Amino acid sequence: MNSNVDLFSARVPRYTSYPTAPHFHAGIGQNELKQWLAGLPTGLPLSLYVHIPFCDTLCWFCGCHTTVVNRYSPVSSYLNDLFTEIANIGPYLKGHPVTHLHWGGGSPTMLTPDDVRNLKGALTRHFEFAPDAEFAVEIDPRGLKDDLIATLGECGLTRASIGVQDFAPQVQKAINRIQPFDETKRVVDALRAAGVASLNIDLIYGLPYQTRENVARTIELSLSLKPQRFAVFGYAHVPHFKKHMQLIKTETLPDAAERFAQFELAHSLISAAGYAAIGLDHFALPDDSLAVAAKAGTLARNFQGYTSDDAPALIGLGASSISALPQGYVQNKPEVPEWRKAIEVGELPVARGIALSDEDKLRRAIIEKLMCFLEVDLARFGKTPEDFPREMEALAPLMAEGFVVRNGTVLSVPASARAAVRLVASVFDTYLATSKAVHAVAV
Ligand SMILES: C[S@@+](CC[C@H](N)C(=O)[O-])C[C@H]1O[C@@H](n2cnc3c(N)ncnc32)[C@H](O)[C@@H]1O
Ligand code: SF4
Repeated sequence: MNSNVDLFSARVPRYTSYPTAPHFHAGIGQNELKQWLAGLPTGLPLSLYVHIPFCDTLCWFCGCHTTVVNRYSPVSSYLNDLFTEIANIGPYLKGHPVTHLHWGGGSPTMLTPDDVRNLKGALTRHFEFAPDAEFAVEIDPRGLKDDLIATLGECGLTRASIGVQDFAPQVQKAINRIQPFDETKRVVDALRAAGVASLNIDLIYGLPYQTRENVARTIELSLSLKPQRFAVFGYAHVPHFKKHMQLIKTETLPDAAERFAQFELAHSLISAAGYAAIGLDHFALPDDSLAVAAKAGTLARNFQGYTSDDAPALIGLGASSISALPQGYVQNKPEVPEWRKAIEVGELPVARGIALSDEDKLRRAIIEKLMCFLEVDLARFGKTPEDFPREMEALAPLMAEGFVVRNGTVLSVPASARAAVRLVASVFDTYLATSKAVHAVAV
């Protein structure tokens, strides 16, 4: 296991996109986005992501794009601009059914019930929702009020993605996130009573003071809530990039061997409870749409992680959000004041992006297949491993460790080595060598 730990300590991207966000550049702006939107074939399904970059307290482990506010006025003025952004982009997307809507953050549960209705109403007016569209929202259960839960139910919420991380008091104290189990259970019960059929629980391993015992107890408690899905992320500690992470002392973090053991333990406990393992870090009950998509070969990966949403275009709304289109990616201006300024003069608030070459599209498809299915058949793209001599050379040490196996034109990561899938995928990333970005460790 020691040599494995060395390999697992390599820093590689999470591949929620390819090329990854550090390679987006200012040469792509609103004009390119407008051309790309105009080039979408009529009727092409869309997925919408809405970013709410506010929280009422800061969790010290948080890697999301968010700001802590202690008044509601910044949130309401953000929403006013978001309504304008929605009205500005809506006309470019006529004739495209929206099949998925996801609100993330930050904490969308910062919104008042009236603003939840207003935001859902604005989206419904300016976009054409498919009758069976999914509607998912990221939920911070702490202090969540019953009237907000009822409103989310009335607005047609189909899936609640609930942040848990770890239930151990010592870990919660060290990440500045006190969240008792009873409070989480109250929210879970209320969401179900409000008609929300599908629940996802987010957990993290590798947190300060976390042990395998904590992980096992957190999973036991979480299983008692009977979620349809789990996401189990490795804590990405990047204190040079997210300064508040300096509040977490490096010496309180589990080392690489312990992280790996926690990952394996989480995996075996959740799988033993009847959940199918999906890709690197998701789990779903066998009848859940994520598990069904994984079985059918239609599973996809986007900025929210794994999804059964195979809409070919994802439109991001709100500061810092990213849109993924068949032609390339664009990211909105990350800081609210710049994002607002662009919207107020009627622009689409794009900061940067990247147009995909044919080579990028091929590598994006290979990396997505590996991340989703732990396997890629290069013949699907009219290629063989011999067409990738540099990559095959880089894969040799990973093959020697049993992290990847070649069978004809098929490269696969054995299920027992799924922790290595980002490393295997990274071999096909031609941008990585030139990247100045510092990524979190692979496991
Ligand atoms: C936008 S956040 C959470 C939504 C909501 N604000 C909450 O805290 O419950 C989505 C998820 O990202 C994960 N996450 C955030 N920062 C992370 C980090 N540094 N490393 C790994 N996972 C992280 C957490 O599991 C979190 O629940
Ligand atoms: S984890 Fe959630 S609640 Fe905590 S700071 Fe990040 S986005 Fe906000």
